[in-house]
Amino acid sequence: MAIHNGLMLKNKDIISVRDMRKEDIELVLEKAEETERTGKSGIMKGKILASLFFEPSTRTRLSFSSAMHSLGGNVIGFESTEGTSVAKGENLADTIRMANGYSDLIVIRHPKEGAARFAAELSEKPVINAGDGANQHPTQTLLDLYSIKKFAGAIEGTNVTLLGDLKYGRVMKSLFYALSMFGANIHLSSPKGLEMPQSIVEEARQKFGADIMQSNEILEGIKGADVVYACRIQKERFADPYEAEKMQREFRLTLEILEKGKDDVIILHALPKVTEIEPSIDNTRHAKYFEQAALGVPVRMALISLLVG
Ligand code: CP
Repeated sequence: MAIHNGLMLKNKDIISVRDMRKEDIELVLEKAEETERTGKSGIMKGKILASLFFEPSTRTRLSFSSAMHSLGGNVIGFESTEGTSVAKGENLADTIRMANGYSDLIVIRHPKEGAARFAAELSEKPVINAGDGANQHPTQTLLDLYSIKKFAGAIEGTNVTLLGDLKYGRVMKSLFYALSMFGANIHLSSPKGLEMPQSIVEEARQKFGADIMQSNEILEGIKGADVVYACRIQKERFADPYEAEKMQREFRLTLEILEKGKDDVIILHALPKVTEIEPSIDNTRHAKYFEQAALGVPVRMALISLLVG
């Protein structure tokens, strides 16, 4: 397939999947395929990525670092605010001004919704949102779309079930929007009270004519699915932790349930997972979440190349 004109994303900020056109996303997916084939390069030699993590991360932070190093570039930054001048009271605006002066690209994760967009308004260098509160995590969505395409063969027409806490999970909201844009058949399966907000469901139906089913039974969600994308119950956002624990017990993917699904069903998860997937599933042919996490490197290599290369 012909690679689109890479200049479409040069110097752009990646803050929300909602800001991206379908052709921008296709460009990243095509470039990631090429990157997976060709591997490491030196195209970021002499370039610096500022990695600013105001919140914990394993996959996103490490895969961005791995991606930049694999392109021959360097990484500066912090994995927590401890030991930085943020601990002395320096505000976000001044921290971003510093990173703008020291780097060619900024990757930021922050607990406050809107922090990445605020950073992008201040920075002359491209800013990538690596997660802002419960709001957006666009590079996870790019990686998820890439994984679905790779493991299921296509996104359009594929039966994808989003399973778990669809009310609070930022990854699920971004992915739901993108799957609707790409014409997947979507089943939203969540415990009662943790449904995808109805305004978001209606928007997807109206904007993309999306084919969406909804249920509160895990078995309903598994039936007929080509891909089951599970997420954890976001316990930290519950007023009553016992309510969250009850839902964790009741809404759990087990081998017994999985056997009622399609023989070749694929299980994905953004990770970290806690109790929502029975550990014995990790060793089955269905579990693709560790491979999915590894794909974060070529997808982020592709994105960095398109923004800065
Ligand atoms: N998927 C994801 O965002 O994981 P981390 O929180 O470890 O970065």
